[in-house]
Amino acid sequence: MKTIIEPFRIKSVEPIYFTSKEERKSILEKAAYNSFRIHANDVLIDLLTDSGTSAMSSNQWAGIMQGDESYAGSTSFFKFEDSVRSITGMPYIIPTHQGRAAEKIIFTILGGKGKYFISNTLFDTTRANIEFSGAEGIDCLCEEGKHPTIPAPFKGNMDVDALRKAIKEKGAENIPMVIITVTNNSGGGQPVSMQNIKDVRKICDEFKIPLFIDACRFAENSYFIKLREEGYADKTVPEIARELFSYADGCTMSAKKDAFANIGGFLAMRDLDLAMQCRNLLIITEGFTTYGGLAGRDLEAIAIGLQEVMDEHYLQYRIRSIEYLTNKLIDVGVPVMQPAGGHAVYLDAKTFLSHIPVDQYPGQSLVCALYEEGGIRGVEIGSLMFGKYDDAGKLIPAQMELVRLAIPRRVYTQSHIDYVSEVIIEVFNKRNELKGLTITEETPLLRHFTAKLKPV
Ligand code: F0G
Repeated sequence: MKTIIEPFRIKSVEPIYFTSKEERKSILEKAAYNSFRIHANDVLIDLLTDSGTSAMSSNQWAGIMQGDESYAGSTSFFKFEDSVRSITGMPYIIPTHQGRAAEKIIFTILGGKGKYFISNTLFDTTRANIEFSGAEGIDCLCEEGKHPTIPAPFKGNMDVDALRKAIKEKGAENIPMVIITVTNNSGGGQPVSMQNIKDVRKICDEFKIPLFIDACRFAENSYFIKLREEGYADKTVPEIARELFSYADGCTMSAKKDAFANIGGFLAMRDLDLAMQCRNLLIITEGFTTYGGLAGRDLEAIAIGLQEVMDEHYLQYRIRSIEYLTNKLIDVGVPVMQPAGGHAVYLDAKTFLSHIPVDQYPGQSLVCALYEEGGIRGVEIGSLMFGKYDDAGKLIPAQMELVRLAIPRRVYTQSHIDYVSEVIIEVFNKRNELKGLTITEETPLLRHFTAKLKPV
């Protein structure tokens, strides 16, 4: 088989900025060892997130010029609505300025004290919005998903027995919704199988609980189903996506991922009454129902991007490029989440830096080392992001200590990725010299965004 190439030509480029290792040492210190505090110009290869960082296509840019900025009834809204409906099959489509705005609306309506939302794994903003409403989030990830270096085809699956147990324990009447995140971002970008979605649907039906999809990466998940699940090889990605959504009562979506947009999101659902409640809240927080916190041009870009992302040449290149980097690391023994996920490479920092205890944040230490060594910016998905304290103030660590290197869509080429692998391997070879970190300043919610740290 020949090399799988980037299925696009580059029409417009932007410079990246080079810094020396000495400069990066002092930048890290000034940023209090938190990669969110580093200025983007000081980053060489930015793998902080795949969110809002996509390169848009010439068609999307053309769509932007056609954006209809009418306050009500914008043509761009109807294009957006058609595009979302064609994929989800859902009648009520509510635009929001990004994914978490959709979350804020739905959890404000359905959440509150005494309520529980059960998921394979809730993303951090999703969990935070649930908790902010007074409700609680419960993750029921399948056992395979909890072991980073043991490969399995659908490590994003929900543990259906755990789901059933949680429903019985908390009472179906206290569970407004079950949420399946596709792909499972916090669990390594791992896909969920169609069979698992069907099984969860069955349980939801049994207990009369609505099922929602956190659909940020629906196209990547659909492509994994095509590659790995029996009976889907000959189906098209739009057919698979349509089936996936057919089992759900609604979805939240961040269009900053699988819609190639720099901003945007939406809620989609089948229930008119719930949609009316969401729209009421939308109007007082986001904007009128036909723009919801977005400009008409953003709606155009999303409408077009949602269709482009389902192109199989693109998805083949996308999934292959993550696998390419993952395999290069596996070959030299770097502990990495296996198999490769859909949008990012996840280093297993607990194994990578086994000499650093979890309360010294090995993931964050690795994030800093990658930046210092090669100007690469990643993000910790471990105890800095998800850790809690017990009553005695002792850290309750996260299940895994991962470092995510998220690959922006259509942005970097193979040589960028080769460089990334070289830097990781260099850090791996001197891993024993790395030290842990302690937190000097933090906020109660989503502390990883702003926390300050210092080396132990
Ligand atoms: N759900 C998932 C699974 C996500 O990955 C994200 C964002 C959101 C919801 C919230 O969407 O950012 O548009 O408000 N993930 C980004 C990331 C931030 O880096 O993974 P948003």
